[in-house]
Amino acid sequence: MEDKKVIFSGVQPSGDLTLGNYLGAVKNWVALQDEYDCYYCVVDLHSITVPQDPKNLRRRTLEVMALYMAAGIDPNKSTIFIQSHVSSHIELSWVLGTMTYLGELNRMTQFKDKIQKNEKNLNSGLFTYPVLMAADILLYQTDLVPVGDDQKQHLELARDLSQRFNNKYSDTFIVPEPMISKVGARIMDLQDPTVKMSKSGDNENGYILLMDAPDTIRRKIKRSVTDSMNRVKYCDEQPGVKNLLTIYSKITGEKIENIEEKYRDKGYKEFKIDLADIIVEELKPIREKYLEYMNDKKYLEKVYKDGAAKAEKVARKTLRKVYKKTGFIPR
Ligand code: TYM
Repeated sequence: MEDKKVIFSGVQPSGDLTLGNYLGAVKNWVALQDEYDCYYCVVDLHSITVPQDPKNLRRRTLEVMALYMAAGIDPNKSTIFIQSHVSSHIELSWVLGTMTYLGELNRMTQFKDKIQKNEKNLNSGLFTYPVLMAADILLYQTDLVPVGDDQKQHLELARDLSQRFNNKYSDTFIVPEPMISKVGARIMDLQDPTVKMSKSGDNENGYILLMDAPDTIRRKIKRSVTDSMNRVKYCDEQPGVKNLLTIYSKITGEKIENIEEKYRDKGYKEFKIDLADIIVEELKPIREKYLEYMNDKKYLEKVYKDGAAKAEKVARKTLRKVYKKTGFIPR
């Protein structure tokens, strides 16, 4: 147990999860559980950087937990917990914030995008969000962080901050590495394959939610944007088809070349029908298990309480070291 490398990752409970969240992150987490010491967090503190209705936030936090487990995260192997239950995240975030330059945060592309979209709510939490994310990761002495491509820049900051602290005081943090899969790290919008699939996308036909009904999934795939070339080929000139091939390959594990070969003399229609079936089949058991977990609030409560207790021990140990090195007098 001691020798296992540490994995940390999280999802915000800020809306319904998309196929992008699943294929870019959660699906990858499942296979890591035996080899690594995994922490999978529901990052509720992050989610309030955009306005949340308290009732919805509570429900969605449990939904994300239920989805983790429905997707195959086993609480007996991995630590599943809720970020706000472990106050060390905020405490370390403060210390790291004093070591973060404004210029570093100004450069964050996700912040720049959010400024454009959220003009009415430009709160400082949106700005310092990546510092809290660094704290999440560094508290657990994390070696690897499995995320989608859009989190790469945030991870760079976590790495820089860990090194900055280590250099200023002495070795305290492991410098974490991103773990971004080759296929599926950026699932694109089905209506506009030049932007990533996101729950905040304007057109609901652009994203697939994990809880979408089979008919909805079939409709969205049928309507997904392709091109007039009518060949199933993975290339940049055909971003729509490229994205669909990525989804196909990520779910089935088949090589892209093999899929291209399979549909060589076939049109988009057949390819899309098969792809829709593949997605529906992948999500079906997840949806069923999810409903079971959501109907067992007692169990969910046990999981997040046990998870927080385990996480807290590890996080406190790191925080104690940080406080000591910083010069705070221990209680
Ligand atoms: P969030 O909640 O936006 O997304 C959760 C995970 O889903 C991935 N993802 C995607 N992957 C592929 N294609 C897409 N279209 C797509 N959309 C989302 C994200 O890359 C992410 O892995 N800041 C993080 C949450 C966070 C975190 C952390 C992650 C907070 N602390 C510590 C790792 C470690 C976020 O907003 O993810």
